[in-house]
Amino acid sequence: MRTTADSPEVQIDSFLSEADERSLANDVLDGLTRPFKEIPPKHFYDARGSELFERICALPEYYPTRAERQILLAHADQIVSATGASELVELGSGSPEKARILLDAMSRAGTLRRYVPVDVSQSALEASALELADEFEELSVHGVIGDFERHLARVPPSAIGGAPRIVALLGGTIGNFLPGTRRRLLREIGRLLGPHDRLLLGTDLVKDPAVLEAAYDDADGVTAAFNRNVLHVINRELGADFVPDAFEHIAFFDRRHEWIEMRLRARRPCSVLVAGLGLRVEFAAGEELRTEISAKFTRPRVEADFRAAGLGLERWYTDRGGLFALSLARRL
Ligand code: SAH
Ligand code: AVI
Repeated sequence: MRTTADSPEVQIDSFLSEADERSLANDVLDGLTRPFKEIPPKHFYDARGSELFERICALPEYYPTRAERQILLAHADQIVSATGASELVELGSGSPEKARILLDAMSRAGTLRRYVPVDVSQSALEASALELADEFEELSVHGVIGDFERHLARVPPSAIGGAPRIVALLGGTIGNFLPGTRRRLLREIGRLLGPHDRLLLGTDLVKDPAVLEAAYDDADGVTAAFNRNVLHVINRELGADFVPDAFEHIAFFDRRHEWIEMRLRARRPCSVLVAGLGLRVEFAAGEELRTEISAKFTRPRVEADFRAAGLGLERWYTDRGGLFALSLARRL
């Protein structure tokens, strides 16, 4: 499906349709019938989920957004001059704040041509595409509403054949995938890269577990609401009758795997009907549903993942507090 927004410089293609309703259905069917229940985190992000994520980014406890922003502000000019990029492809783009810093640097360098945001969240993508197209006169925007695990082939080729691009995956989103999937995804992203293109990858770093756990269990309960939002999504999309408040928000740092895990724990026995699937799911009191992992990295871990995915680390940037890292990588 193709929708062209009002502005002539903005084109938005959507590849989310019935196939994606089936994707939620398949994930729910698979994930809720396992001995250890699990739903992938991409289903958090309907319009409300994207709004809640924006609120998380502004929380005092949630440092990754501020730390990554600090790195971008300090190094965007250097990243742009090192790559000569005229295009920014941003996977899991969300809100426009981080793209704006890179686009500003491209504009200062006089190379800015096009922004290609890719996101499953239609509301977030449309708002961001229109805002940035409005802000940068010389910019054309070609948005892709889709799943970057399935629709990378739909990312349009470089507007000017062979002109360098930055393909960015920011925010630590790569950490939301289990190690094997993460490496497969990095390899697939690598296939988008021509010889002059570079991957810009944001990764949250291993640190004091207390700092990590506070970031995923804030005092205002915004992350708890974000976590429970997946139950609202399943209720609405698949006619389920989850009572979200019957589930407690859990977030803990798994020290062996060095990842944060978010779960929803049934406060009492719950019998849930997922009418759209003709499926009844039983939760015992205290039973947990895993909704997200958020892996934390070290430089050697990033380098090993890159090597396994056919990528090579070229530059490594961190914020002053050493909380977060941005890597610039090329295809080997
Ligand atoms: N890059 C932004 C947003 C991070 S939140 C930042 O750094 O702040 C993760 C974003 O990725 C959300 O906007 C969500 O809708 C999107 N997302 C999650 N899984 C996705 C998938 N499989 N395909 C495309 N977008 C995805
Ligand atoms: C999008 N992603 C990198 C966030 C994270 O930190 O793993 C999602 C999130 N989950 C809870 N808070 C934020």
